[in-house]
Amino acid sequence: MQVAVVGGTGTLGAPVVRELAARGHTVRVLSRSAPADPVPGTEHHAVDLVTGAGLDAALEGVYAVVDAGNHRGPRSARTMVEGVRALLAAEQRAKVGHHVEISIVGCERVPFAYYRTKVAQERAVTQGPIPWTLLRATQFHELIDELLGGGAKFRIAPHSAMRFQPVDVAAVAGRLADAVEAGPSGRVRDVGGPAVQTLAELAELRRRTLGQALLPFPVPPIGRAIRRVRDAALCLDSAGEAVSFDYAEWLRRRYAKPVS
Ligand SMILES: NC(=O)c1ccc[n+]([C@@H]2O[C@H](COP(=O)([O-])OP(=O)(O)OC[C@H]3O[C@@H](n4cnc5c(N)ncnc54)[C@H](OP(=O)(O)O)[C@@H]3O)[C@@H](O)[C@H]2O)c1
Repeated sequence: MQVAVVGGTGTLGAPVVRELAARGHTVRVLSRSAPADPVPGTEHHAVDLVTGAGLDAALEGVYAVVDAGNHRGPRSARTMVEGVRALLAAEQRAKVGHHVEISIVGCERVPFAYYRTKVAQERAVTQGPIPWTLLRATQFHELIDELLGGGAKFRIAPHSAMRFQPVDVAAVAGRLADAVEAGPSGRVRDVGGPAVQTLAELAELRRRTLGQALLPFPVPPIGRAIRRVRDAALCLDSAGEAVSFDYAEWLRRRYAKPVS
């Protein structure tokens, strides 16, 4: 099948590209910059979701689009909500048959600006012109690690009861590839990692793995959003599917010293 992966150079997009290519699909990677390490047999198309540049040419002859584009920061709403609308309009012109979107478990429960953006992006897809599949996932191990790594640069480890259920990004990529092959299926089962842990527990795992001396930095549960995260609003409910390995295992794989 001819598949385009928007954001195919990102944390999620790159494993989606690898997975689809390994399953024998013809894959186009859509992003502003070309991948540093392209997957053999795939083709890069330069596109910009904000301006719409390159989209029409990139989608010619494509049957399914996976949207793994992302933009964090103050302009995220513009890139992600207006961007997905521009993408869906281009898909309609190109007669794309299936749009696959990734979102975040519990995004409607936590009033952070980025999560409001994800809710608006989901709505654009589910009320949009292209038959769709929507998968929600919990935070990737990479995101938790980036957050904790940012604190470690200042020699601090957040001491917080906020709860997360981080997931292996390759497992999420596998679910997206399954969704491409299954055809438009609406909202599919949420996916997350096998363990719910507090940010303090995750920080301690990282600190021990890397042998760092860090000062605990208390994060009080001030504000509705933080309290909701503490109450596991971003974790799977009983209908969700827990997959793959936990953050401790991810740390072992990521930071293991090669045996000499
Ligand atoms: N990270 C998590 O923990 C997590 C958890 C659940 C769901 N998600 C969702 O997964 C998706 C991907 O997240 P990620 O963390 O993999 O993102 P990421 O690593 O930041 O990758 C973003 C991708 O989007 C592309 N991009 C950014 N701006 C663009 C634009 N204007 N036009 C075209 N492409 C653009 C980037 O390439 P260029 O910069 O070269 O354009 C890159 O390929 C998002 O929808 C996110 O909400 C993430």
